[in-house]
Amino acid sequence: MSEDSERIDDLRRRKAKSISGGGQERVSAQHARGKLTARERIDQLLDSESFVEVDALVEHRCRDFEMDRNVIPGDGVVCGHGTIDGRLVYCFAQDFTVYGGSLGEMHGLKICKILDMALKTGAPVIGLNDSGGARIQEGVASLGSYAEIFFRNVRSSGVIPQISVIMGPCAGGAVYSPAITDFVVMVEDTSHMFITGPEVIKTVTNEEVGFEDLGGASTHATKSGVTHFTAENDENALEIVRELVELIPSNNLERAPIKETKDPLDRFCEDLENLVPEDSSVPYDMLDAIVEVLDSDSFLEIQADFARNIIVGIGRLGGQSIGIVANQPLHLAGCLDIDASVKAARFVRFCDAFNIPILTFVDVPGFLPGASQEWGGIIRHGAKLLYAFAEATVPKLTVITRKAYGGAYDVMSSKHIRGDYNIAWPTAELAVMGAKGAVQIIHRRRIASSKNPEQERERLVDDYEETFANPYKAAALGYLDDVIPPRESRVVLIKALGALLEKEESRPEKKHGNIPL
Ligand code: HXC
Repeated sequence: MSEDSERIDDLRRRKAKSISGGGQERVSAQHARGKLTARERIDQLLDSESFVEVDALVEHRCRDFEMDRNVIPGDGVVCGHGTIDGRLVYCFAQDFTVYGGSLGEMHGLKICKILDMALKTGAPVIGLNDSGGARIQEGVASLGSYAEIFFRNVRSSGVIPQISVIMGPCAGGAVYSPAITDFVVMVEDTSHMFITGPEVIKTVTNEEVGFEDLGGASTHATKSGVTHFTAENDENALEIVRELVELIPSNNLERAPIKETKDPLDRFCEDLENLVPEDSSVPYDMLDAIVEVLDSDSFLEIQADFARNIIVGIGRLGGQSIGIVANQPLHLAGCLDIDASVKAARFVRFCDAFNIPILTFVDVPGFLPGASQEWGGIIRHGAKLLYAFAEATVPKLTVITRKAYGGAYDVMSSKHIRGDYNIAWPTAELAVMGAKGAVQIIHRRRIASSKNPEQERERLVDDYEETFANPYKAAALGYLDDVIPPRESRVVLIKALGALLEKEESRPEKKHGNIPL
């Protein structure tokens, strides 16, 4: 054998060792749990044959606890780049078959290299997490690498989209990289996220709680809002990531993508004519309005099961990617509460950072009353949404379908905080508060001194409704740019969005604002 072919054989052996990870037995154990391996996941995430691996030959340099006898090239994480729908992305996938996917010094530095490359080239980065956390044998070197990752996540925030998929354990401080990234996807049954696990909780607080209940996908989808999407299995999780990436730009200097649509731009939305019920206390599903107005089958809802009184998601309008924020009258009458404010504020900031226009549907009776909301800090949390909308300079379109009461009217992308195109349906009601409450306050004495208080109250309520339960006072003041029949919504919004795409607007230069966190 020539010296050259010996060298090539040696290279092949080294690569093969890296590719085989923790060996067949551990791969089978991974499959038996319904999980794909790191390489299988990358294959499913990226366009076929597009993956280019880097650092397959990196090894750890730990000499403690006999780790020098157990060296696997690649060090438990598969890193590289490839394409999704033909567009460049960087990715890493932790390999649970190698030291439980635990993150040691070199494993962490491999991830850092990927994050650096993604930032330099302006491409999204996708992390597939499946790890026992800090590699115990490597001690503080492991913690150091974690912090290097956190630092890079923060540095890249608002510059390139960062997506984390949780496909196994993710515990302790390790959760903070996903938490900083823009989107978290969790796989049902096989993924868990928590700061401290069930055993520590039992020891410290005597609370008994299982893994799933504490930090499973459905808990984080409904109770904590930590995850943006839940997936039935690994394949489904990777499909969600592909769908998401196709809707967003690759970096903060790019425009939001446009994809040609077969849905006619001049389609009237007949079903919207009767969407809002006659009785303004009767709920309806705001999703119907969103789906009807957007290009067919284009809406990807985000955090669908958390704070259901507000809907957020990305879809397409006339082919153009657009962020949707919408009050949902089906839940808590569409009131803004702490969770809804925080959910929508973070989404608005994502859209603004990445040049995605925002379309807001408004039907909001106000902020949710209650001591628990006040004590929980609805003042500062509600302010986040106000801040986010006011700070956003992307094209902002607003449709008021029914109620726009009080402070919530101002907050929900109103003209005054620089909505660009604000319209209403004839069913809109713009007022400081609902008629009954208003009459009780401004006419209390008059009602009390009336011979027939109930009849007088009713008359005054009717009078108030006639004055304010319509969009025309606001239209007369120019706070609304137009009032349109609901069926024309799609046509009108597509034209308005087209007119706004070249919009330029700026705010004073500053290091950064001080959003009420
Ligand atoms: C080194 C680890 C490891 C770790 C798992 N392994 N976690 N090796 N450091 N953190 C190894 C195991 O020794 C085992 O090796 C293999 O991975 C698979 O682990 P199992 O326990 O057999 O798997 P399973 O039963 O599925 O349990 C998975 C697990 C459990 C729940 C993740 O391994 C576990 O609890 N690990 C410890 C988690 C932990 O406490 N990590 C540190 C948290 S603190 P062999 O050779 O036997 O196959 C932290 C802070 C981060 O992460 C701070 C950032 C700032």
